[in-house]
Amino acid sequence: MPQNSSVRVQLNRLSVEEQHAVAAPRNASIPFNRPSLVGRELNNIVEAIERGQLSGDGHFTAECNAIIARLAGSASALLTHSGTAALEMAAILCDLKPGDEVILPSFTFVSTANAVVLRGATPVFVDIDPATLNLNPARVAEAVTPRTRAIFAVHYAGFPADMDALADIASPRDLLLVEDAAQALGSTYKGRPAGSLGDMGAFSFHETKNILSGEGGALTLNTSDLVDRARIIREKGTNRSQFIDGLVDKYTWVDLGSSYLPGELIAAFLHGQLEQVGEITRRRRRLFDRYLEGLAILPARHGIGLPRWSPAVRGNGHMFYLLLRSAAQRSAFIAAMREEGIGTPFHYVPLHSSPGGQRFGRSAGAMEHTDRTAERLVRLPMFFDLEDEIERVLDTCLRVVTRLDRSGAAC
Ligand SMILES: Cc1ncc(COP(=O)(O)O)c(C=O)c1O
Repeated sequence: MPQNSSVRVQLNRLSVEEQHAVAAPRNASIPFNRPSLVGRELNNIVEAIERGQLSGDGHFTAECNAIIARLAGSASALLTHSGTAALEMAAILCDLKPGDEVILPSFTFVSTANAVVLRGATPVFVDIDPATLNLNPARVAEAVTPRTRAIFAVHYAGFPADMDALADIASPRDLLLVEDAAQALGSTYKGRPAGSLGDMGAFSFHETKNILSGEGGALTLNTSDLVDRARIIREKGTNRSQFIDGLVDKYTWVDLGSSYLPGELIAAFLHGQLEQVGEITRRRRRLFDRYLEGLAILPARHGIGLPRWSPAVRGNGHMFYLLLRSAAQRSAFIAAMREEGIGTPFHYVPLHSSPGGQRFGRSAGAMEHTDRTAERLVRLPMFFDLEDEIERVLDTCLRVVTRLDRSGAAC
């Protein structure tokens, strides 16, 4: 019997629980992120192989597209191989060209800006609102010029940006509004799902996200006129999707494009996760609430900030962060937590002050909240299976903060 068949037979004999035990080694330290199997991921991979198609746009890709479109309340969703790829597709769909400007927060991942730069356009960085860590619409309005073509709004920590205020800026000027919803699957704004709030939305399924496939992403499209072109862009600029649908008898190069389509093994794994999105989101929200409750004394007693969000939004439990009092206190905190075996990484280096940001973009206005936030923020461990370990994180965190304050460490 060939080896792959024997692996398949062995896998198929294991229950879902047994597969998870095989795939999830434990150790004493608590990392920032630990990916878990949550459902039928491994069985799906075997099924994809048995179906005989490993390239993209097969059975599991179609199933994932449908689930994501439903979750995001979007007309259409297309699986991509990363959130970065979804953002690059969005930038092509915006028809960005040299001389055009796109407004986005400086406090974001590099991919939000790179997508713009790859089109030859200029990212224009603006400051965040310290109450939400998302784009401040007042700063966005001030940054608009005759060259502005689009606004890329990031939903930081899974809390959607103020999309109505941003739409009020975008609509009268015919600017496209793109959601960088990499962290926000399952979040809502005024009851509407992230991914349905702009013209397009980019999701990530990187292993640190709520729903994961190692690397992975999706682009949601909220106006039907974008869908056909998006499918062409994702398939190297060819009309292969129309060929597969039987609409043309051969396929050919028709537009700009690249290879943004993941293979079926990724889609099969992702499908196992997407089927459990309700349980995953519930668990993460519970963990988020436990952090909030367990650390409630930090602001008054230690001057440390906890996540804040607008009452108009509901998060998805993606991330729990602390805002320490200073950069020095943050370094001491991360080092002390590391000594206790707990991973608490910081997050973005502001793009406006990065070498790439200075070379390719420009800032509009002061960046005081971006700078102040970026130097003080740490993220606490957050993953599906954290339930058994969260009390240790909480205890350690409180102990470390108290010890740092007593020792007068760098405040
Ligand atoms: C805000 C934001 N945008 C884009 C990305 C890129 O997603 P991916 O890693 O799937 O390419 C990330 C990933 O962490 C992100 O946090």
